[in-house]
Amino acid sequence: MKRLVILSGAGMSAESGIRTFRDMNGLWEEYDVMEVASIEAWHKNPELLLRFYNDRRVQMLASQPNMGHLLLAELEKSFEVHIITQNVDDLHERAGSTKVLHLHGELTKARSSVDPTLITILENPVMKPGEQCAKGSPLRPHIVWFGEEVPQMDNAIAIVESADILCVIGTSLNVYPAAGLLNYAPKNISIYLIDPNPPEKLPKQIQVIAEKAGSGVEKLIQRIRDVTK
Ligand code: OAD
Repeated sequence: MKRLVILSGAGMSAESGIRTFRDMNGLWEEYDVMEVASIEAWHKNPELLLRFYNDRRVQMLASQPNMGHLLLAELEKSFEVHIITQNVDDLHERAGSTKVLHLHGELTKARSSVDPTLITILENPVMKPGEQCAKGSPLRPHIVWFGEEVPQMDNAIAIVESADILCVIGTSLNVYPAAGLLNYAPKNISIYLIDPNPPEKLPKQIQVIAEKAGSGVEKLIQRIRDVTK
């Protein structure tokens, strides 16, 4: 089977009712990103970060995968689909996708603030101040914050390098190193970008589908259905 690699961002989950970051009414209009999503903020005001991510978790649990998520899961019948997502929600998994790499962490999990390998699945969606990991240090959301390394980057690069088709969905390509993943795509493959407001300057190799994720993935399927072998 051909390998279809998807790089998804906040726009992927917009039709599920989850707010993006940089659109009008995006989350970063309401919050200062460095106050709620940076390692400095965690050291300064952990309660605020716990509250911010508790809200995101509650919203995620009230949301359902949209048509875009469901169609990508369905595509596993015809392609080896690898999803690299910047999203911290679990909507790709709940739609049925089986190979999902979370570059920026996962809301469903928490981890030790002294040992990044000590990761637990949250049973209660609301994290409270004072909760501790097995090593006795504060438990923190399993999120990659600004100012931190992106531990899954090497795995993501290897996946992009092995793509037969690449499709970018719903990301403003503003945040690095995630946005730099495009540079690792083989030069001879087709690259699609699904976004109702696509970035203005894009390399020639990229074919734009200027649609929302749901209808955009439908169009993508029409374009790639003859490439299944
Ligand atoms: P952005 O909010 O920067 O970009 C969202 C993109 O989705 C924009 O290009 C929109 O045009 C597009 N979009 C909006 N609605 C859409 C829809 N229905 N279907 C498809 N696309 C749509 O979000 P990201 O690029 O994902 O990181 O942001 C990257 C990172 O910045 C996030 O992972 C987060 C944030 O700060 C951390 O917090 C570490």
